[in-house]
Amino acid sequence: MTKLIALLAGDGIGPEVTGEARRVLDALALDLAFEEAEVGGAAYRAHGHPLPPETVALAQRADAVLFGAVGDPAFDALDRALRPEQAILGLRKALSTFANLRPARGFPGLEEASTLKPEIARAIDLVIVRELNGDVYFGDKGRRTTDAGLREGHDLMRYDEAEVRRIAHVGFRTARTRSGRLCSVDKANVLETSQLWRDVVIEVAADYADVELTHMYVDNAAMQLVRNPAAFDTIVTGNLFGDILSDQASMCVGSIGMLPSASLDADGKGLYEPIHGSAPDIAGQGKANPCAAILSAAMMLRHSLGEAAAADRIEAAVATAIRGGMRTPDLGGTATTRAMGDAVLAAL
Ligand code: NAD
Ligand code: IPM
Ligand code: MN
Repeated sequence: MTKLIALLAGDGIGPEVTGEARRVLDALALDLAFEEAEVGGAAYRAHGHPLPPETVALAQRADAVLFGAVGDPAFDALDRALRPEQAILGLRKALSTFANLRPARGFPGLEEASTLKPEIARAIDLVIVRELNGDVYFGDKGRRTTDAGLREGHDLMRYDEAEVRRIAHVGFRTARTRSGRLCSVDKANVLETSQLWRDVVIEVAADYADVELTHMYVDNAAMQLVRNPAAFDTIVTGNLFGDILSDQASMCVGSIGMLPSASLDADGKGLYEPIHGSAPDIAGQGKANPCAAILSAAMMLRHSLGEAAAADRIEAAVATAIRGGMRTPDLGGTATTRAMGDAVLAAL
């Protein structure tokens, strides 16, 4: 049966990188249908809202969502509810995609692009399981002027035990399919949300005697990630810490343009997107690295469409293109977005 993919390209380099992902998917000749909709700044321009109801409806109706990026500096001064970023936050909530898998794996031949020593970069093979529907992202926020006339802003950091429990299970199950080591990252020495997080993760661990659980404070985790990333296998952490650590992990591999992600709901339905943003500094210049988007399409095939073999083929093709020396500017080369897409297609 034909599977429907909602293709939400978004802003900046979003359309450029999802365009290459689409070409790769088309080349596999699977039974897929694509429907596009506007999202982010593009949707605000066209419809006056970054996440129009038709876009949400399409995402909910589709078998999977392939997402580019949102964000446009032209809209940074808008009321927060109308900013492009609200589109991805709103979609994650609307689709209940609470589990964000962000794998980071070293690519043979790419070590020179990493800021780490080659032998350290080469050995990276970890996945960050990031909670995506809670934390300081979705707690009450506001700004006001105090009685003393000072401007004040606040964002409530909040988790309940059900939210922690369900992501902890994903963390343990993910670790089980890998090396069986799970590191829970928090800030329990300071934050009550993190103490709750740690307590609940320890409770859930009782169901997974075969998984080795450790805990680490997020500041130490940031340091260990550049000291010896190969020491990590599966990391489970909250929304904010996972956001930050995954950008850091990408540079350990070589570029933020290399890391894909899967955002899954309880039934395995998902939204797939690169971890990077709309990169306004290089948008429209053909400089963006499409690998993260192409690898996100592979994750989509594997996790939501039952096409594991096709996913393997895409991942192998990206590795071949990289090993063959294809390099966009973020990787130290001069290849265009299209040339990288061509190299992946040639390797398929
Ligand atoms: P960014 O990820 O867009 O860019 C950071 C840096 O990495 C830039 O120098 C950019 O040129 C580079 N970069 C990113 N992706 C690249 C790629 N595929 N190839 C080559 N280089 C790449 O982060 P930012 O600059 O902090 O944010 C820009 C906008 O994107 C903001 O509006 C932000 O809110 C938004 N954003 C959106 C998402 C998303 O849609 N999921 C994610 C992150 C940031
Ligand atoms: C990401 C982005 C988003 C996040 C922003 C754009 C809301 O940084 O997907 O990593 O913080 O989750
Ligand atoms: Mn981010």
